[in-house]
Amino acid sequence: MNEKLAINGGEPVRSTAFPPYYPGAMLYDSKEANATSEITFSHSPFRYYGPNLIGKVKQFETELAKKMGVQYAVAVTSGTAAVITALKAAGIGPGDKVIVPACTFIATAGAVICAGAVPVFAEIDESLSLDPNKLEEVIDKDTKAVIPVPILGNPCPMDRIMEVANRHHLIVIEDAAQSCGATYHGKAMGTFGHINTYSLQMNKIMTTGEGGAVVTDDPKLYERAVRYHDQGMFREAEGFLSTNPEADIFVGQNYRMSEFTGAVAVEQLHKLDQMLSNMRKTKRALRQGLQGISGFRFRHIHDEEGDAGNALILLLDDASRAVPFVRAIQAEGIPFGQLYNGQPVYMQPQILHQRTPDPSGFPFNMVHPPVRYTPDMCPESVKIMARNVDLMIGTTWTEQDVDDVIRAVKKVADQVL
Ligand SMILES: Cc1ncc(COP(=O)(O)O)c(C=O)c1O
Repeated sequence: MNEKLAINGGEPVRSTAFPPYYPGAMLYDSKEANATSEITFSHSPFRYYGPNLIGKVKQFETELAKKMGVQYAVAVTSGTAAVITALKAAGIGPGDKVIVPACTFIATAGAVICAGAVPVFAEIDESLSLDPNKLEEVIDKDTKAVIPVPILGNPCPMDRIMEVANRHHLIVIEDAAQSCGATYHGKAMGTFGHINTYSLQMNKIMTTGEGGAVVTDDPKLYERAVRYHDQGMFREAEGFLSTNPEADIFVGQNYRMSEFTGAVAVEQLHKLDQMLSNMRKTKRALRQGLQGISGFRFRHIHDEEGDAGNALILLLDDASRAVPFVRAIQAEGIPFGQLYNGQPVYMQPQILHQRTPDPSGFPFNMVHPPVRYTPDMCPESVKIMARNVDLMIGTTWTEQDVDDVIRAVKKVADQVL
């Protein structure tokens, strides 16, 4: 006889709270506390000067570049700022189209628009990332760049994406906000494209609450990223005021990271391997325990070894069961959800209806013929997104947590899928 589901008044599998999904923040300890305290007593919270500047932002940049295996890193204030900086470093702006996968957080598309370019959406496959086989379909003469997004730890097939992009002379900007530490064939996500980004926001793997980074191997792109994030200046090379008439100077933003943020970022980077190891171990145990249950399959992982392990995403056979499944399993005390409400990113009204803060129509009015969005423009992605249910995996899970998830999925799948 089937166990009565909690949603129907039965006993829930789990009655205590699940560990929250804040992978890096849940490992905060005296290291982060002492690091921020050190900045307080240095009286030097600004990265470029102060009475006793420690240089934590610079240290973070140096260590991040080394850890990922690239030449250069620029720390910035958010993952969104990082994508905008990467786009502007690459010279992308009005009149340009940039390919964005149909599954991503709104920031990827929003950053393109904020950079003055127009996003064009491309199909995803069952990994939830850009489908390299469909990429070519959305490239035209105005396309300047593509932004692959490794979704929740799952590395993208960068060899295939780079092959298509190179053939069309596109700039590649990996938005690795959700996948810091993931690798594809042993190489870090965020190091395949020409200039790439990470986020340090609260739900990301390493976190400083808010923060981000741009990484590249290209000295020119690095210089331009530094200038864009700091009002056009390249202080380490030129000081406050450039006197070099040859310099590639242009107007920029203030996306500088503070020393407090840099201090925490250094400590989080030192813990990255631990975070990855904890999440990967948990995910392996979950997958093992959930083998062979009917009604769903695991989303495709392009490189199991390189998966950061921060999410378990199931693709249900029948999309109409996604909401009932999530409701039933939440009642069992297990925090499954539907990633991005089971919809492509372009369904968010500000994207779908091209709403910008001013009435000019910029930057959409810079592209001819105009790019218009419709709900069904990426039909495969619509179908795949509707089938997803996701469970975020933290860094502090116990064997009991794993057992509870397995028991609840079996119980609910049996009766709901
Ligand atoms: C894929 C992706 N890109 C960009 C961002 C933006 O990062 P942030 O929130 O640090 O601006 C996020 C997350 O927030 C994200 O998930």
